[in-house]
Amino acid sequence: MKKVVLAYSGGLDTTCCVKWLKDKGFDVVCFSANLGSEFSPDDLRKKAKKSGVSKLYVKDLRKEFIDDYIVPVLKASAIYEGKYVLSTALGRPLIAKHLVDIAHQEKAEYVSHGCTGKGNDQVRIELGVMTLDPGLKIIAPLREWDLTSRESEIAYAKKHDLPLSATKEKIYSIDKNIWGISVEGGTLENLTIKPDDNSYYFVKPLQKARDKETFLEIEFKNGVPISLNGKKVPLITMIEKLNLTGADCGVGRTDLIEDRVIGIKSREIYEAPAAWILHFAHRELEHLTLDRETLFMKYDLASKYAWLVYRGLWFTEFKASLDALIERSQGPVNGSIGLSLYKGNITVISRSSKNALYKKEMATYGEGDRFDRTLAEGFIKVLGMPYIK
Ligand code: ARG
Repeated sequence: MKKVVLAYSGGLDTTCCVKWLKDKGFDVVCFSANLGSEFSPDDLRKKAKKSGVSKLYVKDLRKEFIDDYIVPVLKASAIYEGKYVLSTALGRPLIAKHLVDIAHQEKAEYVSHGCTGKGNDQVRIELGVMTLDPGLKIIAPLREWDLTSRESEIAYAKKHDLPLSATKEKIYSIDKNIWGISVEGGTLENLTIKPDDNSYYFVKPLQKARDKETFLEIEFKNGVPISLNGKKVPLITMIEKLNLTGADCGVGRTDLIEDRVIGIKSREIYEAPAAWILHFAHRELEHLTLDRETLFMKYDLASKYAWLVYRGLWFTEFKASLDALIERSQGPVNGSIGLSLYKGNITVISRSSKNALYKKEMATYGEGDRFDRTLAEGFIKVLGMPYIK
């Protein structure tokens, strides 16, 4: 019997995928990854069993997600189109990697996913699989079957007695992991009206956000956050805490008209308090500790890095080369950044580093100035020389 490994969430799409693949004659093995969403392995097991899945792999990948995916993106300051911290995008190559591993373990020739034919995720998962093992065959039921709406999928599931989530019909399409939440669809597709309060997933709307400043201090070592308010904490704990604190202060929600890989423009809302706080602090520390050529290079590369993550070119030489360069740049990125959060704003309030390139005796307008201002005249003349006609 042909065997397929399906990336499985237990939601409507992948539940229908199981039945559809079985009807095509496949033995269906499933894989579910915990990247920090609400996640119940027991629930998944029950659903998978009821759907006719022959074997289910459940993996907690939060640590790998943070160490090998989130940290490089943080070091790279990669943010897509200025507003998207790439939370959903980043999870896809990781899922692809484990899909391939399980396919090898199970000696399956096929892998499958429940991504739509209009989105980015099909591109990311398939590019991930292709680059890791070009020999695997990929099946995307949502591009093939004639269930073209949510309603038709529900009807199909009911007809075949497939397990449906107990939750009532969802208003929005939501994807969640520890690095952020993506919310789209429903009334958000209407660009001319204010997003409904129910589109706020956990970040508080500004009028309900905490009405006092919240102070934080984050310490970094070689570009990696290591302590929060003077206490060393595992990064997973820090991210969880910053998500809660930031959300309470209304921080980290963005609203983007986004350019999808396949050319469609779409509207998505993101909530990612921890990601924004950490990017902000990391960038501040880089300004303090990196020479300007390195800093400018990093600004140039940040959008390239974001674009590669967005497209799913994770397992490529290009990505590995950028990583090597960025990794090398993080040597001096050590020190602490103090921040204030208030009503959606992140403000820097203090900076300190043993690698600081800021020299008060050079910058000062007060007593103790050590800058030799007589050098400036010649410097400017030489600087302007190429432009004099
Ligand atoms: N637009 C985002 C991306 O392509 C998120 C996609 C999933 N969004 C969702 N609401 N289910 O990375």
